[in-house]
Amino acid sequence: MFGKVLSSAVLGIDAYTVEVEAHLENTTPAAFFTVGLPEGAVKESKERVLAAMKNSGFRIPSKRITINLAPADIRKEGAAFDLPIAVAILCGLRHVDTHFLDKIILIGELSLDGELRPVKGVLPICINAKKHDINGIIVPPENQKEASFVPGLKIAPVATLKEVVEILNGKKAIQVVKNQDHFNLTTNKYPVDFSDVKGQENVKRAMEVAAAGSHNILLIGPPGSGKTMLAKRLPTILPGMTMEEALETTKIHSVAGLNNSKIGVITIRPFRSPHHTISDVGLIGGGTVPKPGEVSLSHNGVLFLDELPEFKKNVLEVLRQPLENRDVTISRARLTLTYPATFMLVAAMNPCPCGYYTDPRNECTCNDGMIQKYLSRISGPLLDRIDIHVDVPAVPFEELTNKVAGEKSESIQPRIQKARAIQTIRFKGKQIHSNASMEKTDIRKYCKIDKKGEALLKTAMDKLGLSARAYDRILKVSRTIADMEKSESIASQHLSEAIQYRSLDRSGWMG
Ligand SMILES: Nc1ncnc2c1ncn2[C@@H]1O[C@H](COP(=O)(O)OP(=O)(O)OP(=O)(O)O)[C@@H](O)[C@H]1O
Ligand SMILES: [Mg+2]
Repeated sequence: MFGKVLSSAVLGIDAYTVEVEAHLENTTPAAFFTVGLPEGAVKESKERVLAAMKNSGFRIPSKRITINLAPADIRKEGAAFDLPIAVAILCGLRHVDTHFLDKIILIGELSLDGELRPVKGVLPICINAKKHDINGIIVPPENQKEASFVPGLKIAPVATLKEVVEILNGKKAIQVVKNQDHFNLTTNKYPVDFSDVKGQENVKRAMEVAAAGSHNILLIGPPGSGKTMLAKRLPTILPGMTMEEALETTKIHSVAGLNNSKIGVITIRPFRSPHHTISDVGLIGGGTVPKPGEVSLSHNGVLFLDELPEFKKNVLEVLRQPLENRDVTISRARLTLTYPATFMLVAAMNPCPCGYYTDPRNECTCNDGMIQKYLSRISGPLLDRIDIHVDVPAVPFEELTNKVAGEKSESIQPRIQKARAIQTIRFKGKQIHSNASMEKTDIRKYCKIDKKGEALLKTAMDKLGLSARAYDRILKVSRTIADMEKSESIASQHLSEAIQYRSLDRSGWMG
């Protein structure tokens, strides 16, 4: 006796169709095998499937059952095959009408009493189903919102195994949920706003420049000066997410199992702030069952590393690949996966171990050696990827109690959008999209400065003791500042402002 149903599984952030076959034989002793590279939860699905069938009123056959998951050469993880395995067995036992089974996909974990539990990766599974002319998909009720964002695919949330069988046998009407085709990506739904931040005009301006050119930024200031508060508000001024970005970010969160049933599709830019004790795998992804890391969870959003020097050296080291390539490649013995990782990096740190080196109101207790050691924990190659460094001074009490609200995120954002539009045109047909991603040849082409500018830059480099590494960063950031003013050429005032954003390079401070 034989039964076959279609299901799906995720590889990286995309899904592929899996055929679940059940072969039942009248041989004793009764047994249950799963083949087709099952891993972890799939191996254990036998126990859940048999209990769920029994508790749903089906008799467990005293037979030798073989389940095959095809294609057989890809490892399969997760509990989403419980439902298709149960239905394939029931097909083999002639309990289910096989009429529609080649046009629908079944996914769902089973509880021991036969209820359908939510699974990971539903969005990519639905996108794949649509691509392969599947008519509909049966999903656990908690996954329905996420599934309903794929147009043209019938989504049927079903609560129990028993109901699935009734529906397939035409004994119960199928309830299809409506596709959600109308999610508004433009409204600002962030719980925080830039206007919450009092004073700090300089820092806010630096963040605006960073957002306009997609430059990574480092905030340096004493404890309580508002670094975390400012960083959290960066996503609120970035351009609204496009539909493509929203779906891609949601796919990653879905695969990581972080999408909850209420959100559905992620329409606001993610803000991730992993603790400094995070491991390299946690940050860039991987593990025995590969999972996206924080760099991918912040895809199309902001990755905030608070207390940057406290992160382990090897962890900061692995950040270089995603910062350069905008994705992460994870290699396993039989498998290579790529997760997207395009994010803006915001890092924060105190200026010294005690935190008060730059604070006029508190005395710093660190000596030069301590400060040097503290700073040396951030490697040069990582600093090379951070275009803007800015001091965040403690805000005086009068400013904090000032009733006048600052500029709202919604009025800052259009300026950023305009600057980004200029860059989109500039880099049309190229691999890069923003000024921050310019390489040496692009910098030479798009960041030309006149004699006056050159003289200014030379004086600044000599006087402030700026390092050679600072030179290209200053040019890129000045390009962004000029774009914000819709200026074709980079003028002296653009360069002067960009020079300000190199706090950490200034030899006067820490060298
Ligand atoms: N400019 C500001 N406007 C309004 N509130 C502020 C401002 N700066 C700081 N605060 C208040 O101070 C609190 C502490 O700020 P925050 O945690 O962002 O500081 P921090 O620089 O990240 O400190 P730490 O170095 O200790 O992490 C904020 O939650 C906020 O309530
Ligand atoms: Mg903080």
